[in-house]
Amino acid sequence: MLKVIAVATQKGGVGKTSTTVNLAAGLALAGARVLIVDLDPQAQAGTAVGVNLGGEDQLARSLGWILQARLQGMRMDLSSVWFERTELLEEWDDAGTLHLLACEESTMTAAQDLIHKKGFQSTPILRRMLLEVADSFDFVVIDTPPAVSSLSATALAAADYVITVCIPEYPALKGAAATRGTVKYVKDRTGGECDPQYLGAVLNRSNPPSKWKAQEVNIRNGMLDADLFPFETDIRLDNRISDSFAYGVPSVIRFASHTPGKMYSELMGQLVARMQLPVEKWETPEHIDGEDSGE
Ligand SMILES: Nc1ncnc2c1ncn2[C@@H]1O[C@H](COP(=O)(O)OP(=O)(O)O)[C@@H](O)[C@H]1O
Ligand SMILES: [Mg+2]
Repeated sequence: MLKVIAVATQKGGVGKTSTTVNLAAGLALAGARVLIVDLDPQAQAGTAVGVNLGGEDQLARSLGWILQARLQGMRMDLSSVWFERTELLEEWDDAGTLHLLACEESTMTAAQDLIHKKGFQSTPILRRMLLEVADSFDFVVIDTPPAVSSLSATALAAADYVITVCIPEYPALKGAAATRGTVKYVKDRTGGECDPQYLGAVLNRSNPPSKWKAQEVNIRNGMLDADLFPFETDIRLDNRISDSFAYGVPSVIRFASHTPGKMYSELMGQLVARMQLPVEKWETPEHIDGEDSGE
């Protein structure tokens, strides 16, 4: 059955897009049929898998355009606009498939305004569209804009599961906690139609634990204390992850048998395990003793 995962936090620049595309590509490498949905007007998830919507003729393939049309009552067929990126997996025998719903800034901003104008009852729009194509995919992974907006509300409403991303800096912890807090309101605000479950937090751009300073220890402990349920595997600061944007091929594919591939595979395993377990059984890293706050 289709599982829709939204990667969200209010803080920008912490690694939402990197997490989205690497988890999505990793799931596809492992054999799943995966759709990446780029819901951030900055369109970086598209760039990360080699798609940039260019001229006027391509705007009709922007998710922003599709959302507007659908909100105005037109029937839209997602399969006619998504991009197939399975070619990125061609070196793997047992890989699944990879698709992208791409976006472009002006059409996304217009869609955002329209959703905002129509209010919360319109936020299930993306979920409804994804359910129509549920037979085509095992996973949908949604990249979301930072800050609270009608688009981030639409992403949360579309999701079965929400994960958040932190880096070892205090504002990131706040942003993740704020997003975790909003997940529980989605059900009420959509009249029960949408009911995403919070699934945990990724600590991104981390150093090896042996080199952690007080701030990193405090962030890890803060993630546990704020019930962010950090995953056991952190994603280390690794230039191969950032460089891969320029190639339009996620690091999990380019460096599948190196650290990026290994880290994201582990994270993927933990994510999928949590989907199958009640919260009480989720594995989290240990609280670290012996540091006080500050620095
Ligand atoms: N683990 C990492 N190691 C090195 N660079 C990273 C890592 N995660 C993200 N980056 C880089 O940090 C920047 C912000 O990441 P991005 O995924 O775009 O964040 P967001 O989507 O939250 O704005 C990008 O330049 C990205 O390549
Ligand atoms: Mg981003």
